[in-house]
Amino acid sequence: MNQISEVTEQIVDRKLSAVAKRTKASIIREMLKSTSIPGLISFGGGVPDPETFPREHLAEIAKEIVEQEYKTTLQYGTTEGDKQLKQQYIQYLRKYEGIEGLEEDHMVITSGSQQALDLIGRTFLDTQSICAICDPVYLGAASAFMIHAPKFIKLTMQDDGPDVDILERSLQKMTEDEKEQFKFFYLVSNFDNPTGICLSLEKRIRILEIAAAHKILIVEDDPYGLLRFEGEKIPSIYKLAVERGLQDYVLLLNTFSKILSPGLRMGIVVGNQKIVRKLVLGKQVADLCTSPLLQRMTARYLERHDPIVHLQNALKVYAKKRDTMMASFKEDFGNIEGVHWTYPQGGLFSWMCFPDWVDTMEMLEFAKKNLLIYIPGEAFSVGDSNKNCMRLSFCLPSEEQIREGSKRLLKAFQQYAFMKGR
Ligand SMILES: Cc1ncc(COP(=O)(O)O)c(C=O)c1O
Repeated sequence: MNQISEVTEQIVDRKLSAVAKRTKASIIREMLKSTSIPGLISFGGGVPDPETFPREHLAEIAKEIVEQEYKTTLQYGTTEGDKQLKQQYIQYLRKYEGIEGLEEDHMVITSGSQQALDLIGRTFLDTQSICAICDPVYLGAASAFMIHAPKFIKLTMQDDGPDVDILERSLQKMTEDEKEQFKFFYLVSNFDNPTGICLSLEKRIRILEIAAAHKILIVEDDPYGLLRFEGEKIPSIYKLAVERGLQDYVLLLNTFSKILSPGLRMGIVVGNQKIVRKLVLGKQVADLCTSPLLQRMTARYLERHDPIVHLQNALKVYAKKRDTMMASFKEDFGNIEGVHWTYPQGGLFSWMCFPDWVDTMEMLEFAKKNLLIYIPGEAFSVGDSNKNCMRLSFCLPSEEQIREGSKRLLKAFQQYAFMKGR
């Protein structure tokens, strides 16, 4: 026992690198551990419903490629990624995004988009660096960037996406040195995690204009674009950039996690060849290559099946759950002053904010006593903003659980308010 504490003191407390010291546990991943409590309703994790995974098709393909293509699929692969998958992805982007002119060296396959975020952090950020993010921000991106301790410019969220005036004003005020240190602006363009907000066409164009005027890189993360339940599809920032000859200013991150299965861990970055090359070098160090077996499975799946056709059922289920959540919130919170929430046209999340005196991290204890969990807003902050907000995911609970969960949330709020003397 003593020996262990000595090791802890000698090694863990004293020898860790600055990066390791800055690496914090993800509140979400910690909370997901408690989702097995009987009777608990979770509005927490943003994971897709397993019933939506095309498991029969994937099983059939897996058997086939292990038996027939084992010389490549069970071997190491190139760091850049499987050529067959890249070719399928080029067609996929042509079909669903209308993006033309892509070559294989415009893309690198990553182990999920999370690896892409990590590689982008490693490739661009130092402690003197400056980058712009939204507030609230996707926790996984914030963590990947924060380990390098850059300075953040935080863009508050509005109904149609981040307040880009903040970005423009900050860039205009920068000294030459600061401009040199400014690395990129990261955002989730469709049905943002955590707010569910979809960036308007006007703001997408505005962001590109700012990028071109100030020569900055935009990192467009788009895991949820195909999960639209209603409204017209808006072109990606990358597509708008291609139309204007500005594509070198944008890196597009996609993933198959929300449209096929997160267990495949299949992500892709599309952008300028030289930037992609740098990301490839970073990936060599990180993991040599993304699993060739899983890459070929994804490629073969895309070759044989249309993921969008497959998604239609899931989208109907998610849309109904979203409707149930919105109706329940209206019924339970509609008359409570200062409580408001977003109406997502797609994706997996709604973002609810309470009056300023509420701390949703504190309130979580009351929610847990009522067998409910959500993700406190503070988890999506660099600093201590969003304390009065929370992310609520509607993808996993049943409609009945969503209705009951909303009632439990109200009860937790009332008990918390009573404790606060409100
Ligand atoms: C905005 C955003 N980016 C990236 C990711 C990471 O996705 P993955 O690593 O599964 O591709 C997620 C996952 O939830 C996400 O919400």
